[in-house]
Amino acid sequence: MVLGAGSWLGYLLLAQEGAADMGETHLLGTVHHQRPEGLPGKVVLHQIEHRGEVGRLAEEYQPTVLVNFLRGEEAEDLAMHEELSAICRRQHAWYVLASSVLALDGYQGAELTEDRPPRSSSPYGIFKGRCETHLARAGGDWLVLRFASVQGWVPHKPTRNEKFLRRLAAGEKVVVDLGIRQNRLAADLLVEALRQLVKDRVRGVVHLGTTDASDELDFLREEAAAFGWDPAQVVPGAPRHVNLDCRPERIFQLYGDRFRRREADTQTFLARHPGLQRWHKPPST
Ligand SMILES: NC(=O)c1ccc[n+]([C@@H]2O[C@H](COP(=O)([O-])OP(=O)(O)OC[C@H]3O[C@@H](n4cnc5c(N)ncnc54)[C@H](OP(=O)(O)O)[C@@H]3O)[C@@H](O)[C@H]2O)c1
Repeated sequence: MVLGAGSWLGYLLLAQEGAADMGETHLLGTVHHQRPEGLPGKVVLHQIEHRGEVGRLAEEYQPTVLVNFLRGEEAEDLAMHEELSAICRRQHAWYVLASSVLALDGYQGAELTEDRPPRSSSPYGIFKGRCETHLARAGGDWLVLRFASVQGWVPHKPTRNEKFLRRLAAGEKVVVDLGIRQNRLAADLLVEALRQLVKDRVRGVVHLGTTDASDELDFLREEAAAFGWDPAQVVPGAPRHVNLDCRPERIFQLYGDRFRRREADTQTFLARHPGLQRWHKPPST
């Protein structure tokens, strides 16, 4: 059961799982506002009108694995998370939470490793940290994934990459705050890693990301250049100095080099992605 079939990552997860040969596995995805098109036929979509319905759906459907890809950082979202984790404990189901490296954005000058408990200064990170802390206290079988901003494309809505390239193609300048350091992985690979972790029933906190990290300005300038646009269209903005380099370790211990990538690999993935081909600068005549 995937909460947020229309989310970027939820869509990719259902698309990958639906395309894989899984025999008797049933796939259910919740739809909140936007109904994604083009998912494999075996994916059942369930429209959700309000948060309270999600728990009832989990009770009725009794998933073996429940993956929460929802956004929304209000008290009712935390209550829903707590209810879902309780249902999973009762039903001996696996609960997977997409947290974020922002759950660690309150650490100053420290390496952001998997063993660090949540410490955040942003509302989004504080929310993710509360969700993590609840799981750690409540017990059960759960997996928390932390990662920085993912990269890629989906057919049903513009991703950050498509929005960025669209602005470059329109001749706009894109102003980027300075000092935001992240290790950005391709979304499709992150979802592939998640599927393997779930298959192997891995517990606890796992970080996903590239082995190197870079400043947002440099990454976007490289992305612009890879698509043929002038990197000078990406303009430095205010200094912020935020470390969002989400150090992966367990994923390499578990699977060796299978999910080991550098940011250059992410750039290559983007430049070659069929969905993003239309954003390459046309050759001038
Ligand atoms: N994308 C990243 O770079 C990144 C990085 C770190 C962590 N994460 C976490 O990974 C998960 C999936 O991310 P994503 O980028 O795939 O998500 P996304 O595309 O932004 O989708 C968010 C999902 O939450 C649903 N939703 C329900 N209530 C919402 C509300 N009040 N506000 C916003 N969305 C609401 C949306 O439904 P509708 O589409 O129907 O509106 C959608 O299914 C999220 O939990 C996110 O915090 C993402």
